[in-house]
Amino acid sequence: MSDRVIIFDTTLRDGEQSPGASMNTEEKIQIASQLEKLGVDVIEAGFAAASRGDFDAIDKIAQRVTKSTVCSLARAIESDIKKAADAISKAPKKRIHTFIATSPIHMEYKLHMKPDEVIKRAIEAVEYAKTFTDDIEFSCEDAGRSDMAFLKEIIDATITAGATTINIPDTVGILMPQEVASRIKELYEFIGNRAIISVHNHNDLGLAVANSLSAILSGARQVECTINGLGERAGNAALEEIVMALKVRKDIFDSIDTAINTTEIYPTSRLIASITGIEPQPNKAIVGKNAFAHESGIHQDGVLKNKLTYEIFSPSDIGLDTTDTLILGKHSGRAAFSNKLKKLGFSLTKDEIDEAFVRFKELADKKKEIYDDDLRAIVTSQMTNIKAKYELVSLQLMDSTGGVPSAAVKIRDDKGVEIIDAGIGDGTIDAIFKTIDRLTNQHGRLMDYKVKSVSQGKDALASVTVQVAFNDDEPPVIGHGLSIDTMLASAKAYLGALNSYLSMAGMFKKRESGVKV
Ligand code: KIV
Ligand code: ZN
Repeated sequence: MSDRVIIFDTTLRDGEQSPGASMNTEEKIQIASQLEKLGVDVIEAGFAAASRGDFDAIDKIAQRVTKSTVCSLARAIESDIKKAADAISKAPKKRIHTFIATSPIHMEYKLHMKPDEVIKRAIEAVEYAKTFTDDIEFSCEDAGRSDMAFLKEIIDATITAGATTINIPDTVGILMPQEVASRIKELYEFIGNRAIISVHNHNDLGLAVANSLSAILSGARQVECTINGLGERAGNAALEEIVMALKVRKDIFDSIDTAINTTEIYPTSRLIASITGIEPQPNKAIVGKNAFAHESGIHQDGVLKNKLTYEIFSPSDIGLDTTDTLILGKHSGRAAFSNKLKKLGFSLTKDEIDEAFVRFKELADKKKEIYDDDLRAIVTSQMTNIKAKYELVSLQLMDSTGGVPSAAVKIRDDKGVEIIDAGIGDGTIDAIFKTIDRLTNQHGRLMDYKVKSVSQGKDALASVTVQVAFNDDEPPVIGHGLSIDTMLASAKAYLGALNSYLSMAGMFKKRESGVKV
């Protein structure tokens, strides 16, 4: 049995199925590049048949990523497999991941298919996928509730048809660690080294990571996971937790290891949080805000004497440098700035550093002390900046005390034409967003609005995330705005969402029922 566990990241596919986590193509490309830097073996870049947007993102990622394998999901349907094959075609290393449900409840009520029809369909799917690439993964959806004898039958048939990885998902997150252990052990004895066994655990009972580790101990050599544990419903197994458990508990896992560069874990987690606007819970293992915070006096005393009293690994192992307390300000030079970015885990080109430095100087003119979180926010917002159709030129607000809240907004379009208008609303934010709608001839429906201060101090940067539906037939889009002024950050966030929506125009397709898995 090999000592290497393949890390299959599905943040861009199952992770994107988290409510409110939809991303535009540019954001997905940035995430894929970061996943490659993290050392992920396989990037599931999307589900090509789901929409033109998914297809386009996979196609672009396939052209960008060279070290990791790029994978697309496909139902066991010829048209899905063809789309997946086309989308990954330009990747140096490519995989098609096809699946069909194998549990009695899914076969009867979802597929309306008999077990032998399901096997036939799975064989045809794998054989067809094999005509495009050798690297084929077959998933038995809802394997956690499937009959073991039936699983063995379909696994045997799909391996014979050409599957190289067999994935055993606990789609509904119902299994206990010892059940996973006995099922994977039995399947490992059955499959031997004819294919790699993979697991894909959902977190409905909070056991996704425990179940993944249990599967590894029983012979699984691929785990499917997401950054920050994003994913459908309660999410998927968190990549960072699996990887750090293997690293910290070498005594249990022997020499079983991954190719992950753990110092990229924290930068990757921050990138995903800032793009999706979904912050990990503060007490989330490994990457939560409090993961290394020692509150009680006894703990603080212990940590001051020796960190090992209460820390089982160092923050620097995940790329979080708590020793570098250098705070930048307006007199800081380019060298200190660039050095700090490197320490924060960003590896930027010279042009990107130049651009970030200009933004840093603009901020330093308004804000005395620039903290690490400010820098992270500046750089990630720059990294995910899409070619914008509209840019905010100015915003003027009328005093709303006792009067009617109103906003005058000036924007510039991509041809350099400036347009201005003023409008009223039920509140200041409403007035700003309605005026932008009028200027751009759109009608956005605000689904969510979040504001948080990026760092400390009264002059802290405000980070605003909005979720807006511009068309009822298409998924809502996310926009981010960053400014010392919360209203300005709100206007930028709303325009950001609109720009994201326009950049994807025509790429969303009302997902057919059943396409979203
Ligand atoms: O949860 C699941 O079963 C899936 C499959 C498509 C692998 O996401
Ligand atoms: Zn899943």
